[in-house]
Amino acid sequence: MDTTISWKELGFRYLDTGVYARADFRHGAWSAAAACSGASLTLHIAATCLHYGQSCFEGLKAFRQASGKVACFRADTHARRMMHSAQRLAMAPVPENVFLDAVRMIVAKNDAYVPPFGTGATLYVRPLLIGTSAVIGVHPSDDYAFIVFAMPVGPYYKDGMVPVRAYVQEDYDRAAPHGVGHVKAAGNYAAGLVGDIEVKQKGYPVSLYLDAATHSLIDEFGTSNFIGITRDGRYVTPKSPSILESVTNDSLRTIARDLGLKVEHRPVRWDEIEEFAEIGACGTAAVITPISSITRGDRTLRFGSEDKPGKTLQRLYDEIQGIQYGTIADRYGWMMPVG
Ligand code: PLP
Ligand code: COI
Repeated sequence: MDTTISWKELGFRYLDTGVYARADFRHGAWSAAAACSGASLTLHIAATCLHYGQSCFEGLKAFRQASGKVACFRADTHARRMMHSAQRLAMAPVPENVFLDAVRMIVAKNDAYVPPFGTGATLYVRPLLIGTSAVIGVHPSDDYAFIVFAMPVGPYYKDGMVPVRAYVQEDYDRAAPHGVGHVKAAGNYAAGLVGDIEVKQKGYPVSLYLDAATHSLIDEFGTSNFIGITRDGRYVTPKSPSILESVTNDSLRTIARDLGLKVEHRPVRWDEIEEFAEIGACGTAAVITPISSITRGDRTLRFGSEDKPGKTLQRLYDEIQGIQYGTIADRYGWMMPVG
């Protein structure tokens, strides 16, 4: 292994650990996952993943806990979400046991890459499902490959949770109603790249997308769900047919209810935006990114402080991270031990 890793300096970048897991769907059945070396695939030039977008993925994390043991956060929920993605893209769903066995195998084999407790870094696990058959008429692949690889990442915020500015996308939509925005289709990310680049050039790290049909409802940020904390302490998050059901958001809603917050998971109108005292973007990679301002056209709305998160988002962040790192009891059974 690479022994030169400076855990506290890690970003969110690919790093080759030399081992990945692979299972194959052939003749209508899944093989067991096997460990593979190297990082290149041999694919047919007509594979459906390349031309017709039969590709979906997941992202989850393994944590080195205070006890020294390693555990994955809600791997079963990620397995089920990948099954939904596969069904929507007419792909062979990966059975939950195949998914979990592959994740456990790859986390165990990469134990030396699971960052030490206290560094804030984690092992990011990337499951990927692709159609591999040679197809030229538009129809689903017969065969599929399921791959799981992993690499150490983060701490996402070296200096703690630093708020960022967001910009409302008017020129591009991320996902259409009844489309594929609610699943983790690879093509969704390609669709967002041009808009994200333009917004970053204007100086905004994140884009906020509205519903494609009317641009009157809040959907989600480019790669994370929207959470608003109202002035009277309610946790409000959009329910929309075109956003990804974030595992982080689902977990934070559970924690918020336990902490006594009222949770509202419903369509959220853009014109409610000024009711929020705190806004956060939530996802596996960064957990919660506080949003200090949102710009729509020539209007900028500010939320809380520019240099630190609001107290409710900070409280939720501390609680979920405590569960993930094992300093707070896993009262919901979210952590899957490995090894
Ligand atoms: N929304 C989108 C579009 C994403 O890509 C992600 C990241 O995976 C999320 C939301 C957050 O989901 P999760 O909390 O499951 O990582
Ligand atoms: C997340 O895990 O929060 C993400 O945004 C995933 C992204 C890297 C595709």
